[in-house]
Amino acid sequence: MNSSLPKKIAILLASLFVVIQFIQPKRNLGESLGENDIAHTVVVPADVQEILSNSCFDCHSNATKYPWYASIQPFGFWLKDHVDEGKKELNFSEFKLYTEKRKAKKFKEIVEELEEDEMPLPSYTWVHKDAILTPVQKAALLAWAKKNYE
Ligand code: HEC
Repeated sequence: MNSSLPKKIAILLASLFVVIQFIQPKRNLGESLGENDIAHTVVVPADVQEILSNSCFDCHSNATKYPWYASIQPFGFWLKDHVDEGKKELNFSEFKLYTEKRKAKKFKEIVEELEEDEMPLPSYTWVHKDAILTPVQKAALLAWAKKNYE
């Protein structure tokens, strides 16, 4: 049997899709409120804590709540990339270990990111509508971050 080239390519891609399902990236399933958490080094009011865990912790803590499609590749790899990158920049679960200088810098960056509406990432809020910051939440987060570096 002689199949056409487009058909061969389709079969190749389909096989590749099946094969990559067997490669599951390691998940970020540590402790979110462990001993080095931000709450153990600066005052985190309850409303701020809730906003952080609802809108930021999936990428900026040691514990991500994964959506169902994280088991489907390549989405899982794509999520892992966001989590790795996000944690590298800012990890609330390890905030206590940062130097005072780095803490202040991070608070300043939080203000910048919020003022420019860059966080949470739009590609994230597109699926996680509940993570979109309301004006009240944004104001609370901004006031808290500013208080910590001014
Ligand atoms: C979907 C994952 C995701 C979520 C949710 C998320 N971030 Fe980020 N964040 C990232 C990634 C990835 C980076 C690094 C790349 C970049 O700066 O865009 C980052 C970078 C940052 C930085 C450092 C920026 C700089 O100046 O270097 C800050 C501050 C930040 N995020 C704050 C937040 C805050 C506050 C929230 C919640 C309101 C949040 N992020 C939610 C993924 C995320």
